[in-house]
Amino acid sequence: MPLLSEGFSPSEKFSPPDFRNASTDDELFAMVRKQLLVPANRIYLNTGSLGPCPVHIIDAIHANTRQLEMNPVGENWGPLGNQMELVRKKVADFIHADVEEIVLTRNTTEGLNLIAQSLQLNEGDEIITTTQEHDGGEVGLEFLVQTKGATLKKIELPIPGNSVEEIVNTIRQSITSKTKLVMLSHVNTITGLLMPFAEIAKITQPKGIYLIADGAQAPGLTKVDVKALGVDAYAASGHKWLMGPKETGFLYVKKEFQANVKPVFMASGFSVYSASSGTRNVATIIGLGLAINYHTSIGTDKIQQRTLQVRNYCLAELKKIKGLKVISPEARSLSTGIVSFSLDSVKNEDVFNKLNDQDIIVKLLTQHNGIRISCHLFVSKEDIDKFIKALKLLL
Ligand SMILES: Cc1ncc(COP(=O)(O)O)c(C=O)c1O
Repeated sequence: MPLLSEGFSPSEKFSPPDFRNASTDDELFAMVRKQLLVPANRIYLNTGSLGPCPVHIIDAIHANTRQLEMNPVGENWGPLGNQMELVRKKVADFIHADVEEIVLTRNTTEGLNLIAQSLQLNEGDEIITTTQEHDGGEVGLEFLVQTKGATLKKIELPIPGNSVEEIVNTIRQSITSKTKLVMLSHVNTITGLLMPFAEIAKITQPKGIYLIADGAQAPGLTKVDVKALGVDAYAASGHKWLMGPKETGFLYVKKEFQANVKPVFMASGFSVYSASSGTRNVATIIGLGLAINYHTSIGTDKIQQRTLQVRNYCLAELKKIKGLKVISPEARSLSTGIVSFSLDSVKNEDVFNKLNDQDIIVKLLTQHNGIRISCHLFVSKEDIDKFIKALKLLL
């Protein structure tokens, strides 16, 4: 397991479990589950909204906060504060970017807002997005409509998506000579669909159309390689699938795109602390670095494989139930560890509340009378069995 890099000494005593002691992958995932403060009898299926942070990271944040408070200025501009740039580098490596292309933010919404606030669009320039975006991504696009006179075109994605070609063609057909910006979620917040960005970039790049990803649901769930995706900017959160501290996030702005994006927050550069950023929460930011270490120590491939396996099991069980329709894709190339369904006649809110009463935590969708299930690595087949049993009884 990679050790914490130099400069992380205050947190070293709060180590993750030694996963080498796990003789099987199931044992490893059970070790992860034991490290969460989510009580053992609670079935937590809503990492898509917020992920639970492993206890060693919470302890490290507390320890670092205490250390900071012993000498606030000395630590913030000294031993603790100096670690923030290491975290920025860690984020860059994690998503295959250069460190000069990374800004640490508070969340995905803030990252997308930084782009929207400063992007130079002209009246009549067209923005393409879908009807399935999260408010956090949409708000900046609405801002561009209001302040720049851009037009916003929201296209319908097929539900469930069937193939990469179908999705790519839907996007391709929506593009016109006026299109200046395409903004899409890397992993869809409603269905969990994995957007084929690399294929879409092949359409947008030759036309000089900006391509921006809302990556809130992706890092920690699926591999993120911003260069391979071909995006100009990518915003994400640390507090969802990365299971990091709350109010952590990052924004990637491709070098060649940086001249187009100049919010005041980055006026003094992309460093974690600068004149234009102001003081940061050093303990939380170091916690984000620890969350990335944690994921790296398990491995994105293993996490991706496990989350898909559990979600495929959940999807297969859901399909056996009458009175609901799965709205997430089944094609491997479009799938992630999220599965959602739409209820035929029962109100989703009633199902959500009754599951909640049984300590089964799911996400209530505002569209499709739906419910979303997040199958992160700590969710077991037994958890899914309990959820399915409870759902069947309710329906
Ligand atoms: C696709 C998407 N974008 C943006 C957000 C907002 O994330 P945050 O609150 O971390 O900014 C979410 C949250 O669920 C999301 O699913």
